[in-house]
Amino acid sequence: MSDPSIVRRTERLILRHLRQQDVDRAMRVWCTPEVIAFMPAGKNPEKLRRHIEEEVAVPYDQRPAINYLACFIGAEMVGDVGLVEKEVDGTDEVELVYVVHPDHWGQGYATEAARAMCQHAFGTLGLDRLIALIKPGNASSIRVAEKAGFVLERDTVRPSGITMHVYSRERPAAS
Ligand SMILES: CC(C)(COP(=O)(O)OP(=O)(O)OC[C@H]1O[C@@H](n2cnc3c(N)ncnc32)[C@H](O)[C@@H]1OP(=O)(O)O)[C@@H](O)C(=O)NCCC(=O)NCCS
Repeated sequence: MSDPSIVRRTERLILRHLRQQDVDRAMRVWCTPEVIAFMPAGKNPEKLRRHIEEEVAVPYDQRPAINYLACFIGAEMVGDVGLVEKEVDGTDEVELVYVVHPDHWGQGYATEAARAMCQHAFGTLGLDRLIALIKPGNASSIRVAEKAGFVLERDTVRPSGITMHVYSRERPAAS
């Protein structure tokens, strides 16, 4: 029987919805100092835990299509990859985001997950364009975006006052 939590498989990763028993695994990924430095959601662990608990309570088939997916190897959650709706300079965009636990950095997992999520977004979901908002200086994230086919479009100043690079990728003609 197919597992309804699984959305996609790559060569090494299972991309799937978070399950009820994954809350601590997700907290472990999001709350490391190395991840908080670039994705500050984990700065408020109570709020983050509540958010994850609410998410896992929703049946898989009722979760939004534009959402996060956890990346697993066996029982080990190595990270997550997601799509996030965001307004940037007055335009509604869909942002690709990715996080890998520092224990697993440098093994190509973020690139593998990002490429798979692009196929999912352009193919299955029929999106026309994705962006990635990246803090200047986040060299590994820039590298992942480039390897997933994104190019630097411009810089933007976010409502928080922080300047971010806007990388973008259009839907490939064949998708
Ligand atoms: C960014 C992140 C997801 C990368 O995960 P990862 O699984 O290690 O990424 P990959 O192994 O697929 O690729 C990393 C690439 O960056 C390169 N890289 C790593 N550190 C680098 C540095 N300091 N300068 C330049 N390139 C660097 C690696 O060499 C690799 O490129 P290569 O394959 O051409 O050699 C991970 O570091 C992370 O979770 N960071 C914190 C959260 C974050 O910043 N997310 C992105 C927000 S936009």
